Amino acid sequence: MEAPFVLPREASIEDPLRLAVLISGGGSGLSSILSFQSSEPRCHRTVLVLADSENAGGLEHGRRAGITTRGIPLLQGLQSIERRLAHESIILSQIESSGAELVVLSGYMRILTPSFVAKWKGRLLNIHPSLLPDFPGAHAHRDVLSAGVSTTGCTVHLVDEGVDTGPILAQREVPVLPDDDEEALQERVKKVEHVLYPEVIDLLCSGGVSLEVNG
Ligand code: GRF
Repeated sequence: MEAPFVLPREASIEDPLRLAVLISGGGSGLSSILSFQSSEPRCHRTVLVLADSENAGGLEHGRRAGITTRGIPLLQGLQSIERRLAHESIILSQIESSGAELVVLSGYMRILTPSFVAKWKGRLLNIHPSLLPDFPGAHAHRDVLSAGVSTTGCTVHLVDEGVDTGPILAQREVPVLPDDDEEALQERVKKVEHVLYPEVIDLLCSGGVSLEVNG
């Protein structure tokens, strides 16, 4: 039987929800979340930033904001499945010891195992750069361009055991323009992600999301 979704507690400005943000790359999404949180009092704050590499450029955003920030590379010398599990268990223990209450995937390029998902289900959020269920996976922009569609967008969803399949909380459309390449499209979609993700995080943390998916 699959684990149920358990949403985070309803937080307040006086008692904000503690967030762990996981990244893999430049962290422009992380930066938008941190700016949103520092622009005025919010019902959530970021207590931990983790990346799956010490070289992820986005780690700098966490450090500059004075947040506990770590790049955790995969261990060498293990078979691939063991390496993945060992890495994930370090990530999990860092999250647990930070006291985080919600895990926000922001460009984190690893697929989490069902056992990780089960522990955080309902409190594990992702943003994907397409209008799910269309174009899941790691190459959404490339797939959008080769399909020749004229509209794409981004989706915020709760993470379940599948890949980009969990309950959708919000979506926003973005046009695909005739001369777009992957980079141009990605930049246009990211601008919209940077507005949408903080808004949905805010809604979730303030108790504005309810789910009918468990029963
Ligand atoms: C975002 O477009 C996100 O949706 C995707 O990866 C990108 C991350 O960009 N999964 P950044 O590292 O936040 O700049």
